[in-house]
Amino acid sequence: MTEVVHTRADLARARGALTGTVGVVMTMGALHSGHESLLRAAREQADHVLVTIFVNPLQFGPNEDFDRYPRTLDADLEVCRRAGADLVFAPSVADMYPDGPPHVRLEPGHLGGELEGESRPGFFHGVLTVVLKLLQLTRADLTFFGEKDYQQLTLVRRMVRDLEVPVRVVGVPTVREPDGLALSSRNRYLSPAERVTARSLSAALHAGSLAASDGATAADALAAAHAAFDKVGGSGAELDYLVLTDPDLEPGPLTGPARLLIAARVGTTRLIDNMAIRLD
Ligand code: PAJ
Repeated sequence: MTEVVHTRADLARARGALTGTVGVVMTMGALHSGHESLLRAAREQADHVLVTIFVNPLQFGPNEDFDRYPRTLDADLEVCRRAGADLVFAPSVADMYPDGPPHVRLEPGHLGGELEGESRPGFFHGVLTVVLKLLQLTRADLTFFGEKDYQQLTLVRRMVRDLEVPVRVVGVPTVREPDGLALSSRNRYLSPAERVTARSLSAALHAGSLAASDGATAADALAAAHAAFDKVGGSGAELDYLVLTDPDLEPGPLTGPARLLIAARVGTTRLIDNMAIRLD
C-alpha cells in the first residue's frame, strides 16, 4: 500500500510509523523509466521506499521552465504504486516554504559555478538547499540519485561529506532510449525533428568513449566526441559544453577513470548527458 501525504505534518506522522531503513528518491515528478530505476534500487536496498515529488522553485532561473515544467501527479502516483513505494510526499510550494523562499541557502562551492552552474546561476544553491531540507524531513537512511545528473550527484555526495549528513548516497546508472538518448522529463518538449537531433549528445559521448577504449589520448577522445556531435546534430543542436574531467569533476591527470560531460540546446530545450570513460 502506498500512502500519499501532502504536508510536512502528515509526512512526520507517516515517517514516524516506519521502522527499519528508509530509502528516499527525490524527484520533480513527470516520472519515467529513469526514475523507476531509482525506485527499484531503493526497493532492493532499503526496508521502506519514500518518494518525494516537488517542483522546486528555488532551482529555476527567472527565464527557465518552472511554469511549464510537466506536472503529472496522478500518473506519477501510479508509477509509485506499481514500484511498491511505501510513502509519497508531494507538498505544495506553500507547505515546503511556509515563510516564503528560505533566507539561508547552501553554498555549493566552486563546482556549483561551473558546467551546469555556469549556465544556470543559483541552480545548485537551490538543489542542495531542497535536498538537505528533504533529507531532514524524511530522515532517510539512504538516498538515490541518478548518474544522469552527474554534477548534482557529485555535489550531493560532497554536501553529505562536508556537512556530516547522516545518509548514504547511492548513484544509479543512466537509463537510455534504445537510440542512446538519456531519458529526461524535458524530452517531451522536443518536436519529432528535434528528437532526432537530440541523439547528438549520446552519440558524442559514445564516440569519445570508443576512441578512449581504442587508446586515444584525452585530446583525441574529445575531438572524436566533437566530430560526432557535429555530424549527428548538424545545425540543429547548439553545444554549451563538452568536457573531460576526473570522476569527481575536478580537472585532473587524464589517465585512468574519467568523465565525459555534455550540454546542448536542441530548439529551446537544454539537454545534458555524461558517461564514464577510461583513458590509458
Ligand atoms: P528530477 O529531474 O525529477 O530527477 C530525479 C532523479 O531522477 C535525479 O536523481 C535524476 O538524476 C534521476 N534521473 C533522471 N533521469 C534519469 C535517467 N535517465 N536515468 C537515471 N536516473 C535519472 O533531479 C531532480 O529532479 C531535482 O534536482 C531534485 C534532486 C529532485 C531536487 O529538486
